[in-house]
Amino acid sequence: MLTKVICGMHIFFENTKVIHILFFRKGKSYQSSSPSAKAVLSSPSGSSVPRGALDTIGLLMKLGRVRNIVVVAGAGISTASGIPDFRTPGTGLYANLAKYDIPYPEAIFNIDYFSDNPHPFFSLAKELFPGHHCPNYVHYFIRMLHQKGLLLRMYTQNIDGLEKLCGIPDDKLVEAHGSFATAACHLCYTPYPAEEAKQAIMNGNVPICTFCAGAVKPNVVFFGEDLPEKYFQHAEDFPKADLLMIMGTSLKIEPFASLVNTVKSTVPRLLLNRDPVGPFERRPLRRADYMELGDLSDSVRKLAEILGWHTEIQDLMNSHENGLCSSTDPSNSSGENSDSSETDSMH
Ligand code: OAD
Repeated sequence: MLTKVICGMHIFFENTKVIHILFFRKGKSYQSSSPSAKAVLSSPSGSSVPRGALDTIGLLMKLGRVRNIVVVAGAGISTASGIPDFRTPGTGLYANLAKYDIPYPEAIFNIDYFSDNPHPFFSLAKELFPGHHCPNYVHYFIRMLHQKGLLLRMYTQNIDGLEKLCGIPDDKLVEAHGSFATAACHLCYTPYPAEEAKQAIMNGNVPICTFCAGAVKPNVVFFGEDLPEKYFQHAEDFPKADLLMIMGTSLKIEPFASLVNTVKSTVPRLLLNRDPVGPFERRPLRRADYMELGDLSDSVRKLAEILGWHTEIQDLMNSHENGLCSSTDPSNSSGENSDSSETDSMH
């Protein structure tokens, strides 16, 4: 294992396996939700007009200067669907695992821990299996990027399946931390019928590999496991990006977190998140970096309004929800009062 110290972080590299970043110096808190003052574009008359981050990015998009958007996303895009993220104090999944009696929160997704004791994960998996939640405005905004021919690729860390459910096609989506759609033995990797694995887990049983008798698990990526092959498409995608949108992630898990550093330095990066994360914690921000801090649904809706897409997104949501997602109140998922993570917990 190699250890590097980069910008105050110890980063542990072990091939391409999923690992944590340990922060030993927390970045200075940056409270302003107002956009960076350097977000300035020339107006048609030639004078410089200060603009907000969303106005600037919206203008670039409207001017047709952006054609290959890469979206990098995490659990924060699904909190408006009622799914808690991982690390928000109090409401995040890792703050609510006491009942599983595990040595530390991430153990529930650690492959060695699972090998020793799969029961905590299987108890949690009953709640995590997709099927209880619906995509929200943020997912449909990303689908709209695709419909407008602007989405080069979406890289998501989420395992809730909401990207697919909202209609982002397979070839536009990289589920970097896997999904529940398939299952395999965690020891010999022999594939196992996903539906049978799900039934066993739902019935409180451990699905067992017929080949080596190891425990079968859904193909969500655990700490210590390799990322799916599709993830490595990033080597081609990121150099082609002309806009990077980073949404709802703490950028704390490698190797995914470092993807955001692989676009060209002149390529605009827009962070939409509650707090600054990763390279956005440093001051000054990189020239082409923009961030809008606050609730993601609000920010995305503002951007959609700047682009003139809001009604189209709402129509898309209404036409798509055809009963599949009847549990979601459309007024909630439209972004108004949308962060239900504090009241609608999985636990
Ligand atoms: P985290 O919980 O680490 O980060 C979510 C981020 O989204 C935080 O910065 C939140 O402040 C922000 N956020 C949450 N809700 C928001 C909202 N409504 N509006 C704006 N911002 C919001 O989740 P991830 O970064 O996705 O990996 O976590 C990465 C990985 O860590 C996961 O894929 C999982 C976990 O351990 C594995 O299990 C391998």
